Amino acid sequence: MRGWMRLLPVGLALAMFGCDDGGDDAEADAGAAAANLYYDGAESAQLGADGNEARCATCHSNDGTAMSGATLMDIAYRTSFKGGDAATLLDATNACVTGWMGGEALTADDAAWAELEGYMQSISDAAVTDPNPLAPEVLENEAAYAAKYAGGDAAAGEAPYTEMCGLCHDTMLTVNNFPSYNLTTLVAFSEGRIAQKVRTAGPPPSGTADAMDSTPGPMPFFEPSDLSDDDLRNIIAYIKSQGS
Ligand code: HEC
Ligand code: HEC
Repeated sequence: MRGWMRLLPVGLALAMFGCDDGGDDAEADAGAAAANLYYDGAESAQLGADGNEARCATCHSNDGTAMSGATLMDIAYRTSFKGGDAATLLDATNACVTGWMGGEALTADDAAWAELEGYMQSISDAAVTDPNPLAPEVLENEAAYAAKYAGGDAAAGEAPYTEMCGLCHDTMLTVNNFPSYNLTTLVAFSEGRIAQKVRTAGPPPSGTADAMDSTPGPMPFFEPSDLSDDDLRNIIAYIKSQGS
């Protein structure tokens, strides 16, 4: 599992620090719940590849809510990250910046890093130091995912689809340099393929019996603690119900 988060090749990215973006400044300046431009503003997306639209906030909440990535609430003082693959908060952030987002690694003295680190510390309790577990669901192969995730309830899948998938797929959000497919395109993937993609997207592993990584790409994976088996089963039924 070593190196599991050192995913895709670093993209041809230019982080455009300090780039002026009035709309986001106004948004982030408003009120105590305001986050940080490098967490959820245009500056965050610009840490990634040219054209990347994913922000830290696309995959990480700041309030404990489950998304594909762990919540950043209480993240800053843990003793290691990414299941032990990243020793420091900067290393963990850089695995996301270079891997999922396709940008260039931040250095300890970057202004953007000072902002991001300060923000993560501001939403973290220094007493929370235990590392988060990292436990992607790796089954044997696509057929095993198909067997496990058959028989969902399409109507019950619409809400979790919108919440967990639609934020990228309904807007065709570009993650790194890949636009997310819209729902009409997703329908064409088989049940087993959708389930395997959701559980193992990104770097290896894909399935214990798969010789190669069969689900590469910048879409983040969801651990069962981020998205329950029932929700995933229902989401798949919902997607498949959109076909004619
Ligand atoms: C496209 C989705 C995506 C984006 C964008 C993203 N991350 Fe991540 N991040 C993940 C996933 C998936 C993981 C690993 C699984 C997990 O931690 O739940 C992860 C892990 C992490 C971890 C380690 C968490 C832990 O529990 O050990 C940190 C810290 C982190 N990301 C910070 C950031 C920051 C800061 C940004 C913005 C600069 C960012 N990430 C952008 C998906 C993303
Ligand atoms: C952070 C944005 C993001 C989220 C959240 C997300 N996806 Fe994706 N998804 C992508 C992108 C980008 C691609 C195309 C690049 C790739 O294959 O990784 C993709 C590709 C896919 C594919 C194509 C698989 C293949 O074999 O090419 C499927 C199926 C899919 N997503 C389903 C889902 C489902 C179901 C969810 C919710 C549980 C979800 N996605 C959540 C961004 C996202």
